[in-house]
Amino acid sequence: MGNVFNFSGKTAIVTGAGRGIGRVIALGLAEAGANVVLCSRTKTEIDAVADEIRKTGAKVMTVATDLTVHEQLENLVNVTVKEFGRIDILVNNAARSFLRGLLDLREDGWDKCFNTNVKAVWLLSRLVARQMIEQKSGRIINITTVGADKAEAGMAAYGCSKAALKHLTRCMAKEWAQLGINVNAVAPGFTRTDFSKPIWSNPDLEKMISQVIPKGKIAEPEDVVGAVLFLASDAASYITGDTIYVDGGTMTS
Ligand SMILES: NC(=O)c1ccc[n+]([C@@H]2O[C@H](COP(=O)([O-])OP(=O)(O)OC[C@H]3O[C@@H](n4cnc5c(N)ncnc54)[C@H](OP(=O)(O)O)[C@@H]3O)[C@@H](O)[C@H]2O)c1
Repeated sequence: MGNVFNFSGKTAIVTGAGRGIGRVIALGLAEAGANVVLCSRTKTEIDAVADEIRKTGAKVMTVATDLTVHEQLENLVNVTVKEFGRIDILVNNAARSFLRGLLDLREDGWDKCFNTNVKAVWLLSRLVARQMIEQKSGRIINITTVGADKAEAGMAAYGCSKAALKHLTRCMAKEWAQLGINVNAVAPGFTRTDFSKPIWSNPDLEKMISQVIPKGKIAEPEDVVGAVLFLASDAASYITGDTIYVDGGTMTS
């Protein structure tokens, strides 16, 4: 099979690459040889990650992008193709959440979750798919969550949007399977990033959550990278429409 985890000559876009899980996915893809394009709204954060990547000798570009603005999605795809000539891997990692019960959740909170976590993924994936169809190959990996399957109090807007993303993953996989594009999801469980800091920064809360995870601890962002690399690799060429859970066994209960 050769080294299927060598991504030399391939180009990957990672959304939300400025921090957390997206940052380590970008570092992992670069370490495996890919050219990486980093996007998020905060230019200083993606530039800092790009500096880390450049030190390894990999090629990297940053494109400040608000994923909820269509023209900025078009710009992201256009500058990537201009710089690297192709797009082999798209990791739809960026997301937003609101911790608010359904009785108090505001309409704009619901809309922001769905606009970022579902609509932007559809629109960006569609733009990228058009390029991948010309290439007759491509991998799209959506970062979902165990919260797409499990109801958590206060997380309805986020959980419903991620459940929609899980279904969008299957829809894109089905429609694009014969066009050379594989679309899958990686669903992390509770992971130590800024996103979840309000919980793990409280040692009692972290202990309580760790006790219900079969592995007995919350994930570190690095735990998520292997599943993404696998799905992006030739080892996963017959896998599409699926979800890999990286959750320390959370989905067993
Ligand atoms: N942490 C967890 O416990 C956990 C568990 C399960 C799944 N996940 C999933 O893992 C993924 C990464 O989460 P994380 O914990 O690493 O989150 P994070 O640390 O909050 O990072 C989120 C990233 O998304 C970017 N982003 C948000 N809105 C954006 C927009 N409109 N346009 C462009 N970029 C945007 C942020 O950058 P800017 O704000 O600068 O734009 C940031 O780089 C998400 O899909 C999340 O749902 C996380």
